[in-house]
Amino acid sequence: MVFIVEDDYQSMSRTAANEIASCIKDNPSCTLGLATGSTPIGLYDCLVQDFEAGEISFKEVTTFNLDEYCGIDGQNDQSYRYFMNTHLFDRVDIDKAQTHVPDGMAKDAQAACEHYEQAIIDNGGIDIQLLGLGHNGHIGFNEPCDHFPKATHEVALTESTIQANSRLFNSIEEVPVSAYTMGIGTIMAANKIVVVASGKDKADIVKRAFYGEVTPEVPASVLQFHHNVVVVVDKEAASEIL
Ligand code: GLP
Repeated sequence: MVFIVEDDYQSMSRTAANEIASCIKDNPSCTLGLATGSTPIGLYDCLVQDFEAGEISFKEVTTFNLDEYCGIDGQNDQSYRYFMNTHLFDRVDIDKAQTHVPDGMAKDAQAACEHYEQAIIDNGGIDIQLLGLGHNGHIGFNEPCDHFPKATHEVALTESTIQANSRLFNSIEEVPVSAYTMGIGTIMAANKIVVVASGKDKADIVKRAFYGEVTPEVPASVLQFHHNVVVVVDKEAASEIL
């Protein structure tokens, strides 16, 4: 595991964006695994800058997002599809048909999850997977539990995640109570993983995830077993380990 501590959010975003940009430069038709949440927003801005500077093109890039809320469609401004369109896809030259986000409105949850997992496999897997970190150690929406879920599945969100994500909704009642997420197995199958975390409120979970025991009670801790992980945090998020 490579662990990089940057001074602030901006330099964390740039360093992590460079990992993704070099993947695209090395292989213009690569497959990116993408994440939502507040943390990667600066990173997406950096990638848009690189695109505008003519340094990278997304024309042949394929993407798979980690997760999506159940029960809201892609037009809804709280959906992760909407987030990705706004923060990245609508700002670069990507072919939208090559961008994949689980369908939050799927009628048959199991079939939708199997289809998503198979689409990743058929595509040849993910070259580089971006991850944020939930306060309870969740990655994607893999919440703390007694095992590491293997493949894409529907998950009930924990109270703490609903609470944390309610800041983005008008009221807590509007926060979906379940989501579709890649499994831990799906994430661990990526060739390379880049994790970003920022701010004092992530310091405790950064320590537990990367310097603590590997346990499904802290889903991100499994990343300690991945062969090619780069963790990029700012000083505040690293404050418990420095
Ligand atoms: C959500 C997403 C995660 C994300 C997490 C942390 O629950 N499903 O993929 O990593 O939030 O988000 P933030 O970066 O806003 O702290």
